[in-house]
Amino acid sequence: MDNKLAGKTALVTGGSAGIGKGIARSFLEAGGNVMITSRKAEKCERAAADLQELPGQVDWRISHVGQPEQAATVMDETIDRFGSLDILVNNAATNPYHGPMIDVDAGRLDKTYEINVRGPLLWTQLAWSKWLAEHGGSVINIASVGGLKTSRDIGVYCMFKSTLIHMTKQLGAELGPKTTVNCIAPGLIKTDFARVLWDGDRGAAIAEAMPTKRLGEPEDIGKAALFLAADAPWMTGQTMVVDGGEFVRVDSLGV
Ligand SMILES: NC(=O)c1ccc[n+]([C@@H]2O[C@H](COP(=O)([O-])OP(=O)(O)OC[C@H]3O[C@@H](n4cnc5c(N)ncnc54)[C@H](OP(=O)(O)O)[C@@H]3O)[C@@H](O)[C@H]2O)c1
Repeated sequence: MDNKLAGKTALVTGGSAGIGKGIARSFLEAGGNVMITSRKAEKCERAAADLQELPGQVDWRISHVGQPEQAATVMDETIDRFGSLDILVNNAATNPYHGPMIDVDAGRLDKTYEINVRGPLLWTQLAWSKWLAEHGGSVINIASVGGLKTSRDIGVYCMFKSTLIHMTKQLGAELGPKTTVNCIAPGLIKTDFARVLWDGDRGAAIAEAMPTKRLGEPEDIGKAALFLAADAPWMTGQTMVVDGGEFVRVDSLGV
């Protein structure tokens, strides 16, 4: 049994489903403790029940990443429950606006910023003051390949994922030597969040065009997160693209 995270504790925002749950699974398989958090108790409870047979210990608390006072409570309870807060995974995000950036309304612009940028920064500040500054550890941000390019429909979301990638560089530069800050930029992963992009024939066509000939699963991101949490002490401020090769595939002109 691989026990790379034995004695370590991770807090995973949006850990009750999709990629966050995949990351929680990888950490638990490696013997770590995981506190799952998201807004809905029933989703958290179900995810924790699904994961409870794994070697690490899992628990859950509800919270909204836009509410820093809830973050403070969840972090205090994580430290009380497991004795440490070594790994923060800023995974939860939202994407309320589809369309050209030029037409976005202030409400959905602010909402995307609040959850996808302000949330990860405030959660990281709290994890830093409550544990990481003294003891060290790692912060893992979940961005998107969208943060590295433009988009027809989700440019606002991509802009803030790009901001998260820059936040990772900046905090990586600031929080050493005991704390690393890294980022994962997933490609298309088969979760509810991205269902509109992969359901039905569209997903099969996208997969066929990819070098790896399949879409991503949450566990693909879980494995990358485990690497960053357990095996990358000399890596900080960086973004790993984990996208099945979509970013580097030969374009449709085939040249
Ligand atoms: N799926 C993809 O293809 C893809 C690609 C690139 C990047 N990403 C990124 O990967 C991350 C996870 O996405 P996913 O595909 O796994 O999504 P998902 O399957 O929809 O899961 C989202 C999780 O976040 C929680 N959540 C949503 N809003 C929240 C909030 N305001 N506060 C706290 N928790 C919240 C949800 O639970 P509750 O409903 O209980 O809150 C759920 O646990 C996001 O950062 C997303 O941008 C996804």
